[in-house]
Amino acid sequence: MERELALEFVRVTEAAALAAAPWMGKGDKEAADQAAVDAMRATFETVNIKGTVVIGEGEKDEAPMLYIGEEIGGDESPELDIAVDPVEGTTLVAKGLPNSLAVVAAAKKGNLLNAPDMYMKKIAVGPEAKGAIDIEATPTENLKAIAKAKGQEVSDLTVILLDRPRHEEIIKEVREAGARIKMISDGDVAGGIATALPHTGVDMLIGIGGAPEGVLAAAALKCLGGEMQAQLHPRNETEAQRTLDMSNIESIEKILTTDDLVKGDNVMFSVTGITNGELLRGVQYNGQKSETHSIVMRSKTGTIRTVKAEHKIKQKPSYFKDEVIKF
Ligand code: FBP
Repeated sequence: MERELALEFVRVTEAAALAAAPWMGKGDKEAADQAAVDAMRATFETVNIKGTVVIGEGEKDEAPMLYIGEEIGGDESPELDIAVDPVEGTTLVAKGLPNSLAVVAAAKKGNLLNAPDMYMKKIAVGPEAKGAIDIEATPTENLKAIAKAKGQEVSDLTVILLDRPRHEEIIKEVREAGARIKMISDGDVAGGIATALPHTGVDMLIGIGGAPEGVLAAAALKCLGGEMQAQLHPRNETEAQRTLDMSNIESIEKILTTDDLVKGDNVMFSVTGITNGELLRGVQYNGQKSETHSIVMRSKTGTIRTVKAEHKIKQKPSYFKDEVIKF
């Protein structure tokens, strides 16, 4: 994958964020998502790739755009797997809460796990604790191993997890072990990335969240030198069978490593803030200009770029204006 594509993927996540941001606090998560999908899809058409959506808005019959299997991009090569989440944290945008993101990951064809829209059990850490975690061990055992790897005490550690009743047992155990918990209402891609960014103070992500979000977080962690382990978590037999039919994994029970989620050493990950958050500022409006804040990373070189961009929407090409100024 050519390094120049990094900037193209930033344009794609910027477009989605610019389109979703006007819906901030409007209480309409579907509209925010649709605006971002349209803008992201239109911008992909201008990128010279032959991409296939492997993580997207759903299956073809439920999503007209950016559906799993859709071919996107304006060229014959390079052939890439594309994972998208035009709005990661639709409820966060609708409620005007922090940490909503527009996200894209890209890798050589066949290198991203084809995870359908289902749940996934996850555990993730940043570079210092890489190699210390084991999804089959208890939260306490993982915390002890992370503390040892970081030369700290368990009481120094902070765990991030989605605030859901299904995590009650984990929450109890983590607190009994003496670690802190940072609960998030949504957005475990940001939660996963936080483990690899020291300024967040987060040491481990744990719990059950979306499988597509798991692949996206794994792509980011691969670039950042962190680690994720995961296991698909179907709610019933039908979901399990559907997953086996459409994904490229041999068994639902398989423990998925970072390399199973994202193969190879050449993945790119781009993220733009929609609402303000710990990871990134959201879209800022300043008169005729809108400002976006993005991070783009490349696993091959480990380069992490932050991109602050000023957009004069009125001067943009029509495909962009039409999608972004719909509001
Ligand atoms: P959406 O952007 O699709 O609303 O997903 C937000 C999210 O919080 C993800 O970050 C997370 O993986 C998933 O939903 C958790 O699902 P649930 O809300 O069903 O627990």
